[in-house]
Amino acid sequence: MEKIILDCDPGHDDAIAILLAAANPKIDLLGITTVSGNHNVDNTTRNALSVCTAYGIKVPVAKGSPGPLLIDQVLAVEIHGETGLDGPELPPASFELDRRHAVDFIIDTVMAHEPKTVTLVPVGPYTNIALAARKEPRIVERVKRVVAMGGSFSRGNITPAAEFNVYADPEAADVVFRAGWDVTMVGLDLTHQALATPDLQDRVRALGGSISRFILDIWEFIATTHGGLLQIEYPAIHDACCVAALIDPEVFSTEKADIRVEIAGHWTKGMTVCNFEKMGGMRHFGGTASEQVNFRHTVAMKLDHTKFCDLIVDAVERLTRQKA
Ligand code: BDR
Ligand code: CA
Repeated sequence: MEKIILDCDPGHDDAIAILLAAANPKIDLLGITTVSGNHNVDNTTRNALSVCTAYGIKVPVAKGSPGPLLIDQVLAVEIHGETGLDGPELPPASFELDRRHAVDFIIDTVMAHEPKTVTLVPVGPYTNIALAARKEPRIVERVKRVVAMGGSFSRGNITPAAEFNVYADPEAADVVFRAGWDVTMVGLDLTHQALATPDLQDRVRALGGSISRFILDIWEFIATTHGGLLQIEYPAIHDACCVAALIDPEVFSTEKADIRVEIAGHWTKGMTVCNFEKMGGMRHFGGTASEQVNFRHTVAMKLDHTKFCDLIVDAVERLTRQKA
């Protein structure tokens, strides 16, 4: 069983990641932490609580950082709407937040478990994760790994070069990729293969019930914003890919690389520069000894769409059964 902390900014695809993590018996969801990203942290926290309330998910939810480390806040209102989760109807939250700040929740939880047993899954800007690593550096050694949605080696989605989660807090992403832990980058190159195709939508529709309705409403809303703004054929289920890979490592293939985050570039701020080991990996980034290459990051490459869809359908089935 994979023990995880899901650090998120719900967010439509974040909500699906929450459902997948809560439903699958291979995941032990230790807690949900929230961050500013798709919307402000008040809204992303309310959305996380509402999703948990609606579907009987009883895990601690801790509210986190209200904005990025250094830059001004960037929200994704044009993708996720005025509430951060426009479209589906959700009940008001009926349980209380954990009293701790998300950063302290992450530190306490990692330190309370055996070394190398807790995986961090950031699927919003990495502000909380970076702050936790700075506040208690021992967590870097102690976590099992970090499986993060964000970045890209091909295209961006908020600028031509940058993906939203990294662009919205590039300094935090820099801290996360520089830290000594094992990081898997689940970037747009992968998540743009994780589409809610008509076949997947039909399978979810056939299950009926309120969870099926919720997910279909998510896709209906996101189809308009992803299709219109990003020219993606069907809604991309970005964040759930990280959880899926922890349930079934075969859900995507990977390559080793050395990843650096561009924090200074005028046109390229937030870009994740990937130096792949296999593709004739460059021996240096900038020529100085401190920039020695180390192909220690993992990059998600090719999705097994069938396996991924099966996991989504299985989660809806399980939650529907539990609710009945
Ligand atoms: C990422 O940005 C957000 O809008 C999504 O929830 C996902 O985490 C994709 O770039
Ligand atoms: Ca997200």
